[in-house]
Amino acid sequence: MSSRLIRPARNIVGSLRLPGDKSISHRYALLGGFADGVSRLTNFSAGADCASTLACIQALGAKAAHTGPNSVEITGVAGRVTPPQQPLDCGNSGSTMRMISGLLAPQSGRFTLIGDESLSRRPMERIRQPLSEMGARITLTDGHAPVTIDGATLRAIDYTTPVPSAQVKSSILFAGLQTAGTTTVREAVRTRDHSELALRAFGATVARTADSVSISGPQQLHAIDAAVPGDISSAAFFLCAALLFPDSSLVIDSLGLNPTRATLLDVLTTLGARISVLNLEEKHSELVGVVQITPRPEGLGSVEISGALSAQLIDELPVLAAIAPYTAGGIRIRDAKELRVKESDRIALVAKNLRAMGAQVSEFDDGLDVPGNQPLHGAGIDSGADHRIAMAFSVAALRAEGETLIHGADSAAISFPEFFELLEQVAER
Ligand code: S3P
Repeated sequence: MSSRLIRPARNIVGSLRLPGDKSISHRYALLGGFADGVSRLTNFSAGADCASTLACIQALGAKAAHTGPNSVEITGVAGRVTPPQQPLDCGNSGSTMRMISGLLAPQSGRFTLIGDESLSRRPMERIRQPLSEMGARITLTDGHAPVTIDGATLRAIDYTTPVPSAQVKSSILFAGLQTAGTTTVREAVRTRDHSELALRAFGATVARTADSVSISGPQQLHAIDAAVPGDISSAAFFLCAALLFPDSSLVIDSLGLNPTRATLLDVLTTLGARISVLNLEEKHSELVGVVQITPRPEGLGSVEISGALSAQLIDELPVLAAIAPYTAGGIRIRDAKELRVKESDRIALVAKNLRAMGAQVSEFDDGLDVPGNQPLHGAGIDSGADHRIAMAFSVAALRAEGETLIHGADSAAISFPEFFELLEQVAER
């Protein structure tokens, strides 16, 4: 595990174009691998997680060839995968494991899914339960990976997710795509809808109401050409960094602004950002635009994140908590228990690392209360091999007194291998 030293900055200035959204890259790779024909994807995420998805679809019989640094050409299996001899390795990626389970449950043959140490601790019962209700034969190991799937003909279900999860919703929809009848997923909070939009882009019919999504199977998918929008969860680190300095001015080009992902912009505006969105366009129903951010001169206020907001901002909460000491009124996060079962226990690690930098923090079972107006000092950061913790504390380090050493900094490459290089590009010292 490598460590990286982060020095304080004066401000964040410049213009960035970010690599492709991780969630959308996973879905385009999975559906492209399953469709008939050749899909050509540009600005595909270079993160290790999406590489795991590409490796899995290749092991299942699809072809994936890199045609440029972030371009990939995928030849799909036209609806019928070949069971591999070896286990499918999902690496660190919960999205890969959960979504591919839905795709494979209605196929013929036996599939074993494995992951790294972190993924092997994460809960998989949440996909086994609804897929089993559909008739799938899935065995877990104590609720976790390895996951064994014995393919079977499934039946359609009407399912309400107990915990809001786009991965679980997607897993059920991908099974429903191949199952006779209408499969419906209902959710109390609308989670990211990239699967719904991607299924449509690949030619499937998907019906939606305010709180449900339905798919009638079986349906065949057809290859697409697509540019993946920039990842707003990766942009979050730069947007938050920019707010730490009164003279910052940052522009992010071609950024994914899907409304189920863009809640961050509202929260940052509440907190004290001036944000403008320009050149909004739709690409395969995904909104893409240019985002310009500067801090308001009066500085950062406070914000409370709870209820539906917590589910919608789940990946951005670590960096919001990490900049909270620099606000005037602090940030309070509740209803975010899911943070405890991400790549690490993100509530515990955020609290631990904020304390290491000198902050006072209250930790709850489902969140954190980080008071404002607390100067931080540089420290050794335990990233817990979690990409979002490594990047969140690299941002907090920019305004700390003294230098900060991020242990396990290379974990950033799970979602964002370009992170440190781009940070150096926009951080003025
Ligand atoms: C994701 C959904 C979220 C999110 C993860 C990516 C997706 O997880 O935290 O980083 O691509 O569907 P859950 O489905 O567990 O909420």
